[in-house]
Amino acid sequence: MEYQFAERVKNLSGNAIREIFKVLSDKEMISFAGGMPAAECLPAAKVKEFADELLTTLPVKMLQYGETEGYMPLRESFLKYVSNVGIKGYTADNALIVSGGQQGIDLMFKTFCEKGDKILVQNPTYLAVLHIARTYQLQPVGFDCGEDGVDPDDLERKIREHHPKLVYIVPNFSNPTGKTLRLETRKKIVEIAEKYDVVVIEDDPYGRIRYAGEHLPSIKSFDQDGHVVYITSTSKTIAPALRVGLTVADEKIIRKMAICKQAVDVQTVTLAQAIVEKFISTGEIDKGIARSLPIYKKKAEIMLSSLDEYMPSSFVHTVPEGGLFIWGEFTDGTSAKAKFREAVENKVAFVSGNDFFADGSGDNTMRLNFSNATPEQIVTGVKRLAAIFRK
Ligand SMILES: Cc1ncc(COP(=O)(O)O)c(C=O)c1O
Repeated sequence: MEYQFAERVKNLSGNAIREIFKVLSDKEMISFAGGMPAAECLPAAKVKEFADELLTTLPVKMLQYGETEGYMPLRESFLKYVSNVGIKGYTADNALIVSGGQQGIDLMFKTFCEKGDKILVQNPTYLAVLHIARTYQLQPVGFDCGEDGVDPDDLERKIREHHPKLVYIVPNFSNPTGKTLRLETRKKIVEIAEKYDVVVIEDDPYGRIRYAGEHLPSIKSFDQDGHVVYITSTSKTIAPALRVGLTVADEKIIRKMAICKQAVDVQTVTLAQAIVEKFISTGEIDKGIARSLPIYKKKAEIMLSSLDEYMPSSFVHTVPEGGLFIWGEFTDGTSAKAKFREAVENKVAFVSGNDFFADGSGDNTMRLNFSNATPEQIVTGVKRLAAIFRK
């Protein structure tokens, strides 16, 4: 039958990374494509222990419908937890538990944007944001990343030119570039948001995954009057399949987002929320992060040194202080995109950088993830890549 799909989805292609997942089932494949936490960092035993305990002590609470805004003990513990990035003075009315940070972004777009609205994003940005924007028929416009992830002059210029509904920024170890905003840039973003009265989404799933340098306060910590919406997630610090994240915002925004969430999934799974609450209140989340940091640091170092040793001299890359990604660029214009098929045929996968640019540019760039391969696979995979790009 000829289905009459909605205008919204007619021309949508799948999220590039979700599509790549289909080729990754090949056992020989070395994947630098996804953004998955290391398998050895997933805390199965603790999840089981907390789930057993919760289902024994609070069986009805765990299995009955709960509040859309989230399991109250988690809203409270999560708010305490984010005070470590300077998010202070907020109450449970400012908090919405979301089914992964991704849902927070989706609900923000749904809450604020009409078809045809413009949103500003880093160029390049997290590609799922471009995908979400397309599902709402929005127009994402990129602003320059500069050295640390946001060029404030270009951001201001683009706000004046495009009057965006929202600005979306990943402040720490950005996906895809691995860049982290300097303190002055964070303050400047708030000044610009206040000057033009624009709402900024600060999406921070990676901030705790810092294995070099010092932690920095969030952009939200400089926000005086509700211009910044902070979203974080436990996908990279506990486990992504739990699907638990947090949004902190002015209560008027939280209320609207909660109304939209009611229509989407009613609530985030209570058992998953309560497990996350246990991780936070017992300090297990921090113990898990402390165990994972040396693993990520080592993998990042192995990938960085392998890239330096084997890739052609025209290949330059970022050196992240945390997170899961390295961003590479061919200064001679070599197209990473054009070589992607050949790479997959040679059993190594990456994500072609153009998928992260609002305007589809960036053929000469690529994102490399190092967290989910073993150290041996990282070296072998980089050698395979280098053999292709040296041809
Ligand atoms: C920048 C960024 N934001 C949000 C997400 C979504 O994470 P979650 O699993 O919490 O939905 C990711 C996941 O990779 C990400 O990289």
